[in-house]
Amino acid sequence: MAEARAASAPVLTTHELTRRFGGLIAVSNVSLSLHQGELHAVIGPNGAGKTTLVNMLSGQIRPTAGRIALEGREVAGEPVWRMTRLGVGRSFQRTNIFPSLSVEENVRLAAQAVCKLRRNPFKPARREADLIEKAHNALQRVGLGGVTTRLAGTLSHGEQRQLEIAMTLAGDPKVLLLDEPLAGMGPEESQRLTSLLKGLAREHAVLLIEHDMDFVFAVADWMTVMAEGAVLAEGTPAAIRANAVVQEAYLGGHA
Ligand SMILES: Nc1ncnc2c1ncn2[C@@H]1O[C@H](COP(=O)(O)OP(=O)(O)O)[C@@H](O)[C@H]1O
Ligand SMILES: [Mg+2]
Repeated sequence: MAEARAASAPVLTTHELTRRFGGLIAVSNVSLSLHQGELHAVIGPNGAGKTTLVNMLSGQIRPTAGRIALEGREVAGEPVWRMTRLGVGRSFQRTNIFPSLSVEENVRLAAQAVCKLRRNPFKPARREADLIEKAHNALQRVGLGGVTTRLAGTLSHGEQRQLEIAMTLAGDPKVLLLDEPLAGMGPEESQRLTSLLKGLAREHAVLLIEHDMDFVFAVADWMTVMAEGAVLAEGTPAAIRANAVVQEAYLGGHA
């Protein structure tokens, strides 16, 4: 929402963020801001640089140039473990779900990994209780509160994606980076994820990359359109839908 946008300080901003691979400029001077309580979708055709952008925000790859500020602190080029510790959580398309462990154990392990990074000062007994509570909260939030004892490998594809998001949430991220969370989901599961993401966006700054335009326009509060590495346009879904340049370059018959 444009009004909420102006009112809240951004959680994360990029300034002229750039990444080259040899002679190719995958991401070119991208400046954007992610706000608490806002679901920010980044769209653009294949090869536009969306995943490369996320990889820089999560610490997977180093920017060639430009800045990333997390709550005002310069973090460009920091490695993944540090980004995680500082509160940037990323859900992967195929994360390390342990299929033979229970749903709860998977989330507890994820929470434990982040606690270690943060050098959680709790005594061991307290820490264990804290981790279990974190795991349960995260599972509740993604709608898996009823299946905590199931083996992760027995969950449906969609439920496994929900579990991956719970594993990311267990680390208490400020920023949630989601790269194509709907991939491979059926309509019913997509519907479930839509309401889940809307809920999560109230408490986190969410960056979502997604191909499914019906989904994107239904959930996004703010959109950035990328093409050939650069930002083509940004604005509310309504403004993006009406943007002639975007329509011509990308949306085609979709708008
Ligand atoms: N590790 C890499 N090495 C070389 N080129 C890459 C690498 N990663 C991405 N690219 C190139 O950067 C461009 C942007 O890719 P990507 O960020 O994956 O786009 P998107 O996610 O929008 O489809 C593409 O031309 C891609 O081939
Ligand atoms: Mg991609």
